[in-house]
Amino acid sequence: MDSFSVRELKRTDAEALLAFEIHNREWFETHIDARDPAFYSLQGVADHIEGYLADFAIGAWHPFVIEDASQTIVGRANLKSIDVSERSAEVGYRIAQSVCGQGLATLALKHLIQQAQVRWDLTRLVAYVYEENVGSRRVLDRCGFLPEQPSCSDRTGDERRFVLTI
Ligand SMILES: CC(C)(COP(=O)(O)OP(=O)(O)OC[C@H]1O[C@@H](n2cnc3c(N)ncnc32)[C@H](O)[C@@H]1OP(=O)(O)O)[C@@H](O)C(=O)NCCC(=O)NCCS
Repeated sequence: MDSFSVRELKRTDAEALLAFEIHNREWFETHIDARDPAFYSLQGVADHIEGYLADFAIGAWHPFVIEDASQTIVGRANLKSIDVSERSAEVGYRIAQSVCGQGLATLALKHLIQQAQVRWDLTRLVAYVYEENVGSRRVLDRCGFLPEQPSCSDRTGDERRFVLTI
């Protein structure tokens, strides 16, 4: 685990991020919603990064990547929809198929929790996970997230909402 590290997303990550996303596209699309096809180009990813960094600048988003020992991007994790008045945010993460099962999503989620506390002073994190995404549910469980009972106001489909009170 020492050979992996989490750092903030940078403008210069476009090429490496595109490679990571293309390589794992099929894998991700079996677990999470597919991205717009326009995303899968250097310009598409550059625009995506610009959007994330603009949201970071206004305190609405905190984007990270996970790197291996050779500084290859092998995962991503984000604090999303940060709401400082509500003191809450959503978490999201994705790990390259080739390095799954080594605790990387857990490492990334712990980093998000720590940043939520230390950097943003948040008290509540939420995650939305498809019912059948056993691996992600295991990660959330290990980090202390609890499932909420579905209600009428919940998102549609079979996504379940998990909450961590910090
Ligand atoms: C879900 C995902 C993030 C997990 O990443 P990871 O780095 O493998 O996660 P970790 O190694 O920290 O933990 C995964 C745990 O789930 C378990 N797991 C994974 N798939 C499983 C399955 N089908 N059945 C039972 N357990 C499973 C692993 O064994 C591991 O538990 P363990 O450490 O107790 O053995 C990764 O598979 C992924 O990126 N999937 C595609 C995108 C995605 O689903 N993102 C999350 C959206 S909410």
